[in-house]
Amino acid sequence: MNKLKIKIILASVRQGRFGDKPAKWIYDIAERMEELSSEILDLLNHQLPMFAEVVSPAYTQGEYRLKEANVWAKKIAEADGFIIVTPEYNHGYPASLKNNIDYLY
Ligand SMILES: Cc1cc2nc3c(=O)[nH]c(=O)nc-3n(C[C@H](O)[C@H](O)[C@H](O)COP(=O)(O)O)c2cc1C
Repeated sequence: MNKLKIKIILASVRQGRFGDKPAKWIYDIAERMEELSSEILDLLNHQLPMFAEVVSPAYTQGEYRLKEANVWAKKIAEADGFIIVTPEYNHGYPASLKNNIDYLY
């Protein structure tokens, strides 16, 4: 059986964050579902500089100037679906999540 690959994106990178707890809780449930193969993508482990590329990722055929951006984009490309565990900061989602999304096409 081809398992659906679900990436759980843990968006908070703050010291003392709470987000790792619900992310792990979701991961443990997903692990018990045999039709799923899941992984936590912790943005602490995928920190990218503030997006300032010359061209949009839409025009680079999935190739990125930065090695870390290629690693991040490859992880995202593996997935069939995502669960995003995000805090709300000042009525929006955090800069860590927005920045990592901006690197993707
Ligand atoms: C800087 C900052 C701004 C926040 N702004 C909001 C907000 O606008 N609305 C809200 O409901 N909670 C807000 N919160 C509460 C967080 O969303 C909540 O505590 C969340 O669980 C934090 O997740 P984390 O610990 O994984 O970073 C804010 C927390 C911080 C630290």
